[in-house]
Amino acid sequence: MLIDTYGRVATDLRVSLTDRCNLRCTYCMPEEGLQWLAKPDLLTDDEIVRLIGLAVTSLGVEEVRFTGGEPLLRPGLVGIVERVAALAPRPQMSLTTNGIGLKRTATALKAAGLDRVNVSLDTLRPDVFKTLTRRDRHKDVLEGLEAARDAGLTPVKVNAVLMPGMNEDEAPDLLAWAVEHGYELRFIEQMPLDAQHGWKREGMVTAGDILASLRTRFELTEEGADERGSAPAERWLVDGGPHRVGVIASVTRPFCRACDRTRLTADGQIRTCLFAREETDLRAALRSGAPDEEVARIWRLAMWGKKAGSGLDDPSFLQPDRPMSAIGG
Ligand SMILES: C[S@@+](CC[C@H](N)C(=O)[O-])C[C@H]1O[C@@H](n2cnc3c(N)ncnc32)[C@H](O)[C@@H]1O
Repeated sequence: MLIDTYGRVATDLRVSLTDRCNLRCTYCMPEEGLQWLAKPDLLTDDEIVRLIGLAVTSLGVEEVRFTGGEPLLRPGLVGIVERVAALAPRPQMSLTTNGIGLKRTATALKAAGLDRVNVSLDTLRPDVFKTLTRRDRHKDVLEGLEAARDAGLTPVKVNAVLMPGMNEDEAPDLLAWAVEHGYELRFIEQMPLDAQHGWKREGMVTAGDILASLRTRFELTEEGADERGSAPAERWLVDGGPHRVGVIASVTRPFCRACDRTRLTADGQIRTCLFAREETDLRAALRSGAPDEEVARIWRLAMWGKKAGSGLDDPSFLQPDRPMSAIGG
């Protein structure tokens, strides 16, 4: 079990498969100049499957989420999914992606055993998409979303980050569109995880702003705490249901007390939290020939030291050195 000193048990493993991405979202990556991880430093497919296997069979992990960077850029993705699906017990498996390329791979991913996807889409306006992501790929994302739904990678969730002066007015339009297409929309508050370290609390769109904006067009009914469990999103029924909308308010309503996450970076480092400033090196242990029991011991010890909270409200808060793209969002 991956338990910490506050009694939280990590059952949800986020695995970053690459730090590279084919978009350059302003809140995540700079336009250019970000140093990529060197290829020899990346975990191999075998190493990733070994660590996930260990997590699932010996450490109590029940859910695996592949992320990045952009996980669809990892050539071995389908093979990794297939091998994880063959583990006993078989974990729930999902993928967080920008959707570019999903049109081509959704069916193969479903056949390999992937359960569902979260696709990131912040705007319905192609011109805003181009400014926000610095790439002209809006149509590819919409096509990827449809392919995911058609392949049965459901429920398809859509992640949206709102930014002032960019897309902050789009919350109701995004929700109407998501309801119409059968996607579950979740807004994520912008967090201080950009490579440029340019985040400012006073310059972010808060959960309160988002809900107020949605309520101008929809009736929202909050779901009970029981239904939320350890999920980061608070959810509301839209106009009485069955559609729902979620808000992940990591900044203004942190949910650290219920956190059940453990994170593995593409270069084999364990992180206890998105905002952690320390990492624990599992790659070195793997490559020095450590047996599974020793790797599991190191992982357990890392999680035992998980801090109570993200520290975001602490005046001495320092943004992690690595940006979201290299941590794995
Ligand atoms: C880092 S991306 C990685 C997976 C994939 N490339 C994608 O676009 O979903 C995962 C999620 O993190 C979100 N994200 C990135 N930087 C963020 C930030 N500074 N604050 C909040 N969310 C962020 C993205 O919008 C996306 O939904």
